[in-house]
Amino acid sequence: MAQFQAVKGARDIFPDEVVRWHHVEGVIRSVAALYGFSEIRTPVFEYTELFQRGIGSTTDIVGKEMFSFLPDPNGRSITLRPEMTAGVMRACLQKNLLSLAPVHKLYYISDLFRKERPQAGRQRQFSQFGAELLGVSSPAAVAEVLTFMMQVFETLGLHGLRLRINSLGDVEDRARYREALREYFLPYAADLDESSKERLEKNPLRILDSKNPALKEMIAGAPRLYAYLKPEAVADFEKVLSFLSDRAIAYDIDHLLVRGLDYYCHAAFEVTSSELGAQDAIGGGGRYDSLAKELGGTADLPAVGFAVGMERLMIAMEKQGLFATLNPHGPLVYVVVQQQELSDHGMQVAFRLRKAGLKVEIDLAARSMKAQMREANRIGSSYALFIGQTEHESGLYSLKNLVTSEQTSLSLDAVIEILSTPG
Ligand code: HAM
Repeated sequence: MAQFQAVKGARDIFPDEVVRWHHVEGVIRSVAALYGFSEIRTPVFEYTELFQRGIGSTTDIVGKEMFSFLPDPNGRSITLRPEMTAGVMRACLQKNLLSLAPVHKLYYISDLFRKERPQAGRQRQFSQFGAELLGVSSPAAVAEVLTFMMQVFETLGLHGLRLRINSLGDVEDRARYREALREYFLPYAADLDESSKERLEKNPLRILDSKNPALKEMIAGAPRLYAYLKPEAVADFEKVLSFLSDRAIAYDIDHLLVRGLDYYCHAAFEVTSSELGAQDAIGGGGRYDSLAKELGGTADLPAVGFAVGMERLMIAMEKQGLFATLNPHGPLVYVVVQQQELSDHGMQVAFRLRKAGLKVEIDLAARSMKAQMREANRIGSSYALFIGQTEHESGLYSLKNLVTSEQTSLSLDAVIEILSTPG
């Protein structure tokens, strides 16, 4: 075994798999362009308070999953970002972006870090693609981000997804609901598990998120948040639902959906995949109108967004065979040097072809001609171009089509012309 292993919960992605990432990233970028979202990149670390304030100090993420450290003995604590929303909002407030235009549509494909117990679909370093729409969070804006997300899934060919959606109302609605939940759960306090007992104190909404089967029945009988929403919030939510129906996006209303981050209000949603085991959440998001103020902005800034776990997305795609037809193109031409004395000339030819824009591979280890041919086939080259003494002297090279075995003798200019022509 190698002396060093990757850190627990982190993994290497080798070229075979990178091909899949490129494919998925390409689809994300092209759909983002259709919807007018532009890419944002923010630093991998931020001051720890940003996440404490933004995500909420009673959440699991801030409570126990952040990689935080002091850059120097007198410095402020910094944290490897566990999610993107807080950092994107920080960046936009810092640049005062909203003074330049009233609405900003941003997307990202970024690496994140959470100190969770690693298992299938759960890593300590993972990647998300997501979008944040700042400046408006109308039902149309919620529908816009949801439709963008669903179009990415559809373009990738992924099926078997379930979209669950709920309305969390505004701050006052949730405060009243929190009290109602506290009153409901208090008589059962002795039956609650440790983490739910703690949640009862700090944030009873999070009890609804509990995966403990022993609490299932108790949770099912809890009051519904929907009953505590103001009429405007209900109307707003119904409009979101009607937009989804108009776009033929299937959804289930889930009154127990609360999400694991504190910044949400009104519409919040999650997408699960039947292909994933215990970690079946492929993405989630919602509105977060008060995050800007929480981070020191002068006013509430309406906003809505989502994020999708890239690894989980790829696991689900793999299970559905969606990478089977992905054909990583090998080099077009393998330059085969017949005698080692001609290897410099071979390199020169390879260089010329590459300058002309052709994908070319050549042996760098002075291997036999047989070994070169084996390698050309192994990596899926379409052609072999032979460099021998006669070719060197005459300037005419044998080009072999490795699929049909047809062979022709051509000048380098003719080779370039033929191979540059598509098809
Ligand atoms: P989240 O639900 O915490 O939301 O994460 C979104 C997705 O990231 C999850 O559904 C899951 O697919 C993936 N994910 C989370 N943790 C891990 C992990 N340890 N390993 C692998 N994948 C993971 C957010 O992060 C919000 N910022 C989403 C958002 C954007 N809300 C508004 N805008």
